[in-house]
Amino acid sequence: PGSGVTIVGSANIDIVYGVERIPGPGETLLASSAARYPGGKGLNQTVAAARAGAPTTFIGAVGHDEFGEELLATLTDDQIDTSLLRRSTRATGQAFIMVDANAENAIVVSPGANADVTALTDSDRACLQSTGVLLMQLEIPLDTVREAAAVAHAARATVMLNAAPAHALPAQLLADLDVLIVNEHEACLIGASDDLATASATLAALVPRVIVTLGAAGCALYEDGAEVGRVAAPRVAAVDTTGAGDTFCGAFAAAISDGAAYGDAAEFATHAAALSVQALGAVPSIPVRAAIEEARA
Ligand code: RIB
Ligand code: NA
Repeated sequence: PGSGVTIVGSANIDIVYGVERIPGPGETLLASSAARYPGGKGLNQTVAAARAGAPTTFIGAVGHDEFGEELLATLTDDQIDTSLLRRSTRATGQAFIMVDANAENAIVVSPGANADVTALTDSDRACLQSTGVLLMQLEIPLDTVREAAAVAHAARATVMLNAAPAHALPAQLLADLDVLIVNEHEACLIGASDDLATASATLAALVPRVIVTLGAAGCALYEDGAEVGRVAAPRVAAVDTTGAGDTFCGAFAAAISDGAAYGDAAEFATHAAALSVQALGAVPSIPVRAAIEEARA
């Protein structure tokens, strides 16, 4: 196996409106704030892995537009390897996000350039064959996720999938995974049961390690088909949970690539996510390693 963390995934500009509550069909609401941040599940997880201390490479796509430049600058500011980043003829991906008074959100993503994260090049393959950890999400074409997982798995990298947004997973993709990270909603959809314990058990029978993130309740860890532990989250005052799951995934990947044990990596990631919910925006709120260690101590 190789070293470092590689993310194959999405990059978006997030347009974020603060609202009292999420509006219903036909309703118009006035926002209390409006802001723009770098985001996208792939980019957020990339930044989280890099800030947690891992040498990190991002394989994704942005447009030839101002938003694309902004995302490229975000990646380079965090010392992320962008040599495999594609420039697409489509517009940079955008996410329209409403954050309500309870720090909960509703998100609509316009993929744009993210649809062009297809057909792995020889350089992409070489990267996947020399990485320690491959981490992916489901905001790019599923065929790319399958192909990248197969290449990295064959090279004995640790292959992690955050199955967000929720989508049914092909059997071959599941077979190439070492770690599956899902929230409660994703667990129930992919595990095909309304009962979280049943759904989690179904997933745990398919992938060696499954992590079910539980928001303020922390996460549940499964290994070889059985629940092996829970990690409690520290109590914090949440202002924006956007990107908390991404922060968890990126920090977890960084810790595993650094040789941490499964439970320790999950605990590190839980603290990282708890820090991220205390500030607005995805990328601006992702903590660096020293802050995570301090919170943990
Ligand atoms: O997981 C949060 C992310 O989902 C946001 O940054 C937004 O871009 C969407 O992709
Ligand atoms: Na945040």
